[in-house]
Amino acid sequence: DTLGDLCKLVSDSIKEDPPIAMKEGGIIKDGYNAEVDKLRNAKSDGKDWLAKLETEEREKTGIKNLRIKYNKVFGYYLEVTNSFKNLVPDYYTRKQTLANAERYIIPELKELEDTILGAEDKLYALEYQLYSEVRDTIGKEVVRIQKTAKAIAKLDAFSSLALVAEQNNYVRPKMNDKGLIDIKDGRHPVVEKMISNDMFICNDTYLNDKKERISIITGPNMAGKSTYMRQTALIVLMAQIGSFVPASSANIGVVDRIFTRVGASDDLASGQSTFMVEMTEVANILRNATNKSLLILDEIGRGTSTFDGLSIAWAVIEYISNSKLLGAKTLFATHYHELTELEGKIENVNNYCIAVKEKGDDIIFLRKIVKGGADKSYGIQVARLAGVPQSVTDRAKEIVEELVQADVTGKIKEIEVQGQEASKPKAKHFDEVDLAQMSLFDTVKDDDVIKEIKELDLANLTPIDALNTLYQLQNKLKNRW
Ligand SMILES: Nc1ncnc2c1ncn2[C@@H]1O[C@H](COP(=O)(O)OP(=O)(O)OP(=O)(O)O)[C@@H](O)[C@H]1O
Ligand SMILES: [Mg+2]
Repeated sequence: DTLGDLCKLVSDSIKEDPPIAMKEGGIIKDGYNAEVDKLRNAKSDGKDWLAKLETEEREKTGIKNLRIKYNKVFGYYLEVTNSFKNLVPDYYTRKQTLANAERYIIPELKELEDTILGAEDKLYALEYQLYSEVRDTIGKEVVRIQKTAKAIAKLDAFSSLALVAEQNNYVRPKMNDKGLIDIKDGRHPVVEKMISNDMFICNDTYLNDKKERISIITGPNMAGKSTYMRQTALIVLMAQIGSFVPASSANIGVVDRIFTRVGASDDLASGQSTFMVEMTEVANILRNATNKSLLILDEIGRGTSTFDGLSIAWAVIEYISNSKLLGAKTLFATHYHELTELEGKIENVNNYCIAVKEKGDDIIFLRKIVKGGADKSYGIQVARLAGVPQSVTDRAKEIVEELVQADVTGKIKEIEVQGQEASKPKAKHFDEVDLAQMSLFDTVKDDDVIKEIKELDLANLTPIDALNTLYQLQNKLKNRW
């Protein structure tokens, strides 16, 4: 439905560029309504009408110097000097007598006066009335309009997606329901537009529901970790909305939600500090994500003390990696290089890092994601790039050297992993993992078993039913651990 009738009504009646105020005229187009045209012309044409009336009256009465004049008290009047007083006809109504002249009005002049002086008010009122009529007519057709709007919206969305796909060399993704995310030469659709000369470096992403569930991404500041993770999230999102994606090929598993924890922010007004916001978001993710979700976790644990942060990050990865607890596909960027120790300790965790080249004291960003973990963040070099005074960066270097001596990482290697999937024998101490430690997570997830027990109606349970129920409950728990 092209709504031709309504288009015509609007284009005939409403000016292209109407004012914001609706009751001050200037809305209705010339030629739409004769009365509007007349009122609009009244001001400019008024002088001609008066001149015409003046000539007519002179001819009718023979008063040669009859003049139409105006003052604020009487409005328009006809003035006749005393010498012509005897020629004044009956239908003239005297308004005022001066020393050498008389002033009169006649009905035609009064009408003209009304038209000229009242034109503006009348015009505004009439324009608003006509506008309201147009509006009401359109209002009655709202169902038709909405239907057309919906169709256009769809067309707009699809053709826009098609256009950007064509303009930016996107490919049509394959979709799967096996939980596989396999992107070849993926790009960030926005960042690639911001970088001149096609300098954006593309990267692959491979995640599945088995051994490639969690990627821990390390690498220097500014290397491109956040960009890489977000490009993956965007490609998955784009594929799911039916768009082509920025990659050379992509096979995308349907995800139920994409959760992100990105950047530092606070919400002081509602009583949330930076770290509190971060942890609230983490809590929300851990509680609501499923094994069908995609998680983008950009530097969890940064807003608190190093050991607290690292420990939280570590525990979060353990929790996510355990398919009985969560098991979501996850990209996890971090500067806690100690977390790369989890590869090998947990079987579905894999290390990736973003390659850089060291050149003397400088670093060259290669932007390419490769297998393996980084052990340096080059934070001090990046601080220097950003313009932090050299005395500060020099001193930072001294301090870092001293800290390295303390060998925090050495201790981290000793930490054992919680959870069942940590089954790779690579881990030194894994055999000794104390399963009792898992109770922290157990209690959360076994709530349903407890609930079932609580809700058992023992009074109406036969002994054999009780035995069966016990058997089922025990099986439930066995399947978990
Ligand atoms: N694949 C890429 N190709 C070209 N430029 C890139 C690429 N990835 C990132 N960049 C550029 O590098 C900048 C920094 O990237 P990003 O913020 O992802 O780094 P990061 O590793 O997350 O750093 P930090 O650890 O400081 O958060 C981006 O703003 C972008 O301009
Ligand atoms: Mg980042």
